[in-house]
Order: sequence, then structure tokens, then C-alpha cells
Amino acid sequence: MVPLAGCLGATVSGFGPGLAVSDSGRNILLNAWREYLVLIIRDIPLNDPELLAFARLFGELDPPGPNPYGTVFLPDFPELNVISNVQEDGQPIGNLGAGEAVWHADMTYVEKPPTAGILHALEVPPHGGNTCFANMYAAYDALDDSLKARIEGRSAIHDAAHNSAGMLRKGYEEITDVTRTPGPRHPLVRTDPGTGRKALFLGRRPYSYIEGMDVAESETLLDEIWEHATRPEFAMTHVWQAGDTLIWHNLTVLHRRDAFGSSSRRIMHRAQIRGEEAIA
Ligand SMILES: [Fe+2]
Repeated sequence: MVPLAGCLGATVSGFGPGLAVSDSGRNILLNAWREYLVLIIRDIPLNDPELLAFARLFGELDPPGPNPYGTVFLPDFPELNVISNVQEDGQPIGNLGAGEAVWHADMTYVEKPPTAGILHALEVPPHGGNTCFANMYAAYDALDDSLKARIEGRSAIHDAAHNSAGMLRKGYEEITDVTRTPGPRHPLVRTDPGTGRKALFLGRRPYSYIEGMDVAESETLLDEIWEHATRPEFAMTHVWQAGDTLIWHNLTVLHRRDAFGSSSRRIMHRAQIRGEEAIA
């Protein structure tokens, strides 16, 4: 276990074939995930059953949310999502294309969002497509007292209509009034039920709205919080190699992805862990 230099992330090694671990190794892994929030395992290619077995170390699997195409990308492994720009026979094999994916946490547009995301790289582009993560405990801790007071007890709507690349999900209409954004309300500050520690819980910026405010006031406050939360001092960047696996704590970190050349191939398989906690 080697922590990264910044305020989150650690590189983990010492696994058996296919990322097999002992019971004690699993406990070390879970504790490290809660402490460092992003774990990085390098250069161990996995097949889909191995990725699923590894993901199950972190809890019960949660199937992917709806994608813009209304299809299951891996019919043999429907618990896995495919994040890719590759098309085969004119059909996308995965989600999100080659563009930027803006800062977000995964599937906060449900009442009980997933606790962990697990992403495994099968093919990566020569340049770009890096993933950044930001520590929302650190971001909350660094808020000044007046901003903490302004968001205390406030909840925001988390947009269910768009994915993190800004594409409309199948079955939703474009949003013209953020007070009517479809999706659940979550408090802007999450308190960890185990430690009592507070973290910002923002979901994603587009189409968000703080309940009980007029739209202009909500927009101004959200812009201020998001500018703070995504500052470089709270973040790290992962430059992918094929065979990398990352696990992140989805309730306490945000992530985003850089764009990459659309003629390059990037293929990731992703699992996520079912959340049991309504955010409070
Ligand atoms: Fe994501």
C-alpha cells in the first residue's frame, strides 16, 4: 500500500492471480478504500468474471443505470457497464464516447447511490482519457464557516435525465426549468454513518438546483461550491495503462474524465456496488 502524495489515492499490490485476496487481505483492502478513497492496482489484466469477483469484495453488485441507447452492452455480464468510444458494425459498444465527462459522482440520481465504482482498463488511448478524482471530505473541511453555514441543512436535486457526458438518457426530456429537474433530493453535506465525518455531496453540476432558493441564488451558490470542490489541491489524476483497475468511494469523491482523440480506442469495463444508505 503506497499512498499518493496528494490528499487521496493509494497504489495497492500483492494480489494473487485475477486479483484474488485472502480474508485478511480483503479487510486491508476495504479499510484502505475507506481511508484513501481511491485505490489503484496496476498492470493486472482481468477477464469479466475476475472483475466481477473482485468487485464483489466491496459489496453487492449494482447493475448499470440506463444508457442513451437503451441496450445492455454485455448481455453475458449485465452487471458490468462498458465505457467506450468504440463502434462495431456502426453500433457503440459502450457509453460516454470520446468527449469530456464533467465532474460527477455516479448515479446520485437514485435515492441510494452506489458506494463504490470499479473501473478496469482493457484498451487505452495514447493520449488523453485520464480520470481525475477529488476528495469531498477535504473540500468540506476547507470551506470557510460562512459557506458551511449557507449550505447547512440544504438539499439539491440530482439530475436523472443526462449522463456524465451530457447525453439525454432514453425516456427523458430536455430540462428547461431546473426547479423541475427529475431526480432525488440529497443533502449538500453527507455525514459518514461510521465516522461522523462530513463531506460535500454534490452529484453533478448541470441541472442541479438547491431547494427553497430562487434559481439565480441557487445557481450562484452552486457555482461557488463547485468552484471550491474541484480545486486542484483536493484532486488527483490517474493516467491509465491497460490492465489498471481503480476502485473509488463514490459517496465521498467526485470524478471526471478528459477528452481523447476520437480515432483512438478506449475500452473500460465497470462495476459498481449497491448503496444501502439514503444520503443524510
Ligand atoms: Fe462516472
